[in-house]
Amino acid sequence: MCGIIGVVGSSNTLGTLLEGLERLEYRGYDSAGIALVRHGHTWRARAASGTESVAALRSECASAPADYPSGIGHTRWATHGAPEAVNAHPHLDCSGQVAIIHNGIIENHVELRAELVERGHTFTSVTDSEVVAHLIEELRAQGLDLLEAARQALLRVRGAFALAVMDCREPDVIVAARRISPLVVGTADGATYLASDVPAILDRAQSFYAVNDDEIVRLTPAGFMAIGLDGAPVRLRQLHIDWDLETAEKGGFDDFMSKEISEQPDAVRATLLDRRRADGTIVFDELRMSDDELREVKRVVLVACGTSHHAAQVAKYAIERWARLSVDVDIASEYRYRDPIVEIGTLVIGVSQSGETIDTIQATREAQRRGARVVAISNVVDASLAREADAVVYTRAGLEVSVASTKAFVAQVAALELLALRLAQLRGTLTPAQVDLHFAQLTSVPGHVATALAREADVKAVAAQLLDAHDYFFLGRHVGFPTALEGALKLKELTYLHAEGYAAGELKHGPLALIEPGVIVVAVATDPVMHEKILSNLAEVKARGATVIAVARDEDTVIDAVADFVLRVPSVDAMMTPMVDIVPLQLFAYAVARGLGRNVDRPRNLAKTVTVE
Ligand code: G6P
Repeated sequence: MCGIIGVVGSSNTLGTLLEGLERLEYRGYDSAGIALVRHGHTWRARAASGTESVAALRSECASAPADYPSGIGHTRWATHGAPEAVNAHPHLDCSGQVAIIHNGIIENHVELRAELVERGHTFTSVTDSEVVAHLIEELRAQGLDLLEAARQALLRVRGAFALAVMDCREPDVIVAARRISPLVVGTADGATYLASDVPAILDRAQSFYAVNDDEIVRLTPAGFMAIGLDGAPVRLRQLHIDWDLETAEKGGFDDFMSKEISEQPDAVRATLLDRRRADGTIVFDELRMSDDELREVKRVVLVACGTSHHAAQVAKYAIERWARLSVDVDIASEYRYRDPIVEIGTLVIGVSQSGETIDTIQATREAQRRGARVVAISNVVDASLAREADAVVYTRAGLEVSVASTKAFVAQVAALELLALRLAQLRGTLTPAQVDLHFAQLTSVPGHVATALAREADVKAVAAQLLDAHDYFFLGRHVGFPTALEGALKLKELTYLHAEGYAAGELKHGPLALIEPGVIVVAVATDPVMHEKILSNLAEVKARGATVIAVARDEDTVIDAVADFVLRVPSVDAMMTPMVDIVPLQLFAYAVARGLGRNVDRPRNLAKTVTVE
C-alpha cells in the first residue's frame, strides 16, 4: 500500500523525506517520488525502479535544492495505472503550483476526470489521484485558501484517502486529510510532520496525533489545526508512542501476523473500492478483458497453492451458484502435469498472493499454451503472474510479511466473489436486484470481520485450555469446507500440530476411526441450511470422546448442546461466511502458537513465496 510523508519548517527537508520513504519501504511499493516546495517554486523527482525506487530517487535528488523548507513524499503501490514514473506521486495541477500525494482509491475518478477534461484540464498520469490536484486548482482560482480548497475538493470525492497537498503560493502550509487510509501528524520544535505510518517520522517528531476519518488538518511550522470535512473544529487524539523502529513497523503489534490479521477489514474494504458503477455494473479497471470475452466463457478452472487454493475453492461455490458456470479447482502443481483439457471457452484463473509462486505460474502458462484465456488474481501489482496473464484483478490487501497468509485470503475471496458477480451480470444469471444485494452483503463484510476480531479474548481463553492437544480435525460443509481447510492449514503452519481439514460429510468415510478422547474437532457450523447435518456430525464425534469447538452464529441457540467451546461470529450471508468465520480460526491458531512459544511470523521449514517446484 502507498506510504506518504510530509514536512513543513524543516532545515533538512530532502533528508527527512528520503529517510522517511526508506522507512516506508517495508510496506511494499513499486515507485516513489517527492516534491520540495518554496515560495513560487516546486521541485519534483520521481522514480519507478520497483523495490529499488527510493534508492533511485536518492540518486535523482543529487541535484535537489537544499533550502526548500517544506515538501511531501510518496511510495506508490500501483492500483490505477502501471508502476511507471509518470504515474508516481506527487501529481501536479496544470500550473505546476499544486502538488498532491495520495494513499487510497478515488472511486469516482472517472466522472471527475471527464468533467475536468471538459473544462480544459490536462492530465499527465492515468492515476485516480491526479483529479484531486486539478479540483484544488479550480477552487484555488476562485480565491479559496489551500485548506478550504482542499476541503471543498474532498467533499466531491468518493472512496478512500490519506492525502496531502501543497501549493507553492503558500509554501509554509501542508493540508492533509483522511478517510479510511491511515494518517498521523507529528510535531517537533519548529517543524510539523505527517505520515501514513509512524515509522516514517518516528525519529523526527516528538509528539504524535491521529487524524480520524473525514478530518482535515492544516500543518504549519508552528503546529497544526484540524477541522472536519464539514468545517467544524475537531481535536486530534494524541498517541502515546514509546516504540522502537521495529515495533513501529509492526504498528505496535507483537508481530506481523497479529498486525495482518487485524488489517483484514481494510483488506476487504480496499479490494471492494471502486468496483461498482452508479448503474450497478461491477467493474475492474485493471481487468484488460472485454465483456464479450467474458460472456464467451463456458467453463472456469481455478489454479492456486496453499491458502490461495482455499480461496479458489470458495470461489467455486460462488461462481457456480451465481454465474451458473461449471468450475474446477486444481492444485497448481497437479494441473500442469495432468495433461489438462482446455476447450474453447475455458477461462483459467490463477490465484496468488505474491504472484510469483512457480507452480501457479507454470500452471497458467500450460493453460495458455493450450489456448485458455488466463486471469490472474494477484496481491502484487505487476508480479510475474499478473504480467503473463491475459487479464488481472488485484486484491488490495497491502504487503503481507508473515509467512502464513491471512489478510490476502479474505481479499482473494472478496475479489473472486466480485468476479463471480460480474460473470453473473454478463450472463444474466442473477437479476440486477440480486447483484445489488450480494454487492451490499460484500460491502458489509469488513464490519463483521471487525466484530469477529473484537472477540479475540474469547478465542484466547479457549486456546489457553487446549495447549496440550496434539490432534485436530477441522470440519465444514459447503463454503465452510474450504474455511475448515484454511483453519487447519493455519494451525499446522503456526503451531506444527497435526491438523486436517475435512468435508464434514466425509467424516464417516474414514476419519471417524481416528476420533477418540484427546482429539479436538473444530467445526465451521455457521451455514443455517447445513446446520442440522453438522450437528449430527458433531454428535458422532462427541459420542466418541472428542472435544468439540464450534464456530457458530450469534443466534445459534442449539450449538451449545454439542460443543464444548463455541466461538461466536456475526451472521452473514452463506457466501460471505468464509471471510468472517476464518477470523476466529486464525486467532485460535495464533493463540495456540504463541502459547507454545512458536515464531508466528516465520514458521520453521516454510517460505513466504515458493519459487521452486
Ligand atoms: C507459500 C506460503 C503460503 C501461501 C502459498 C501460496 O506456501 O507460505 O502462505 O498460501 O505459498 O502463495 P501465493 O503467493 O501464490 O498465494
